[in-house]
Amino acid sequence: MKGIILAGGSGSRLYPITKVYSKQLTIIYDKPLIYYPLSVLMLGGIRDILIISNDETIPLYQKLFGDGRHFGVNIEYARQAAPNGIAESFIIGEQFIGKDPVSLILGDNIFYGYLDFFYRGIANTAPGATVFGYRVTDPERYGIVEFDQSGKVLSIEEKPLKPKSNFAVPGLYVYDNRVIDISKNLRPSGRGELEITDVNKTYLEMGELRVEKIGRGVAWLDTGTPEALLQASNFFGVIEERQGLKIACIEEIAFYKGFISKAEFAKLIEATPKSMYRSYLERVLSEAE
Ligand code: TTP
Repeated sequence: MKGIILAGGSGSRLYPITKVYSKQLTIIYDKPLIYYPLSVLMLGGIRDILIISNDETIPLYQKLFGDGRHFGVNIEYARQAAPNGIAESFIIGEQFIGKDPVSLILGDNIFYGYLDFFYRGIANTAPGATVFGYRVTDPERYGIVEFDQSGKVLSIEEKPLKPKSNFAVPGLYVYDNRVIDISKNLRPSGRGELEITDVNKTYLEMGELRVEKIGRGVAWLDTGTPEALLQASNFFGVIEERQGLKIACIEEIAFYKGFISKAEFAKLIEATPKSMYRSYLERVLSEAE
């Protein structure tokens, strides 16, 4: 399974920050936003990851992650010339994906809690796609799935004026390799984008769209607006301070998942500047000893 993080976009709702700075590099409590979606892919065991962004931001991600080898993953970068839609990820990522299935996560999507829904989506090797359904109070802002009583998907609609359910499709998707061809055959929508909802509709028409409901024990947080960023920072600050454990600490996850050995983890800590972040990693190492 390959992984893609789509981390470009215009971030217009965060103006003026995004005039000079990428949304996915804004800070959520103690680390850049993009650590959170990256950690989700890593927790899913995905080690080949493509970050798609624009020309100005790719060098910043490269500075942050390099080729990823020091934390046990292979990170590549690709350019999206303009925010032409989420489904363009699979056209840009064609070579990177090769013949494999692929998971896509949007660079501003945060999931916190037991990620069993995602692990099941990845583990399902039947042909088709898996997307997720998360209950929200403002369904008109999202792609919305409608189910029948048995849980079968009936429809999927992008930003409906009259939503048929309260289940939004978050920015995390698992597809078989046909997603490349499906995306290539899409036409841009009224707003000029290659819509991920149209990809999902194609799988639905083929009878191969699976939707896993995400339970209420999982937080799916929005980070598109200043107040959402503040809420997410407060949320993670409260939990991290209470538990003394970091959320989305990619180095810890790499160690915990066995992507790097204890010796490699120690070396990585050596190269980390003296900081609270380093002290935390030192504690994780000493507790493993
Ligand atoms: P959006 O929230 O749809 O858009 P945005 O981030 O540009 O923000 P705003 O609505 O304030 O202008 O994008 C969701 C995520 O997907 C975000 O991480 C940006 C990314 N994205 C791309 O990288 N390229 C694209 O073509 C689109 C549509 C989104």
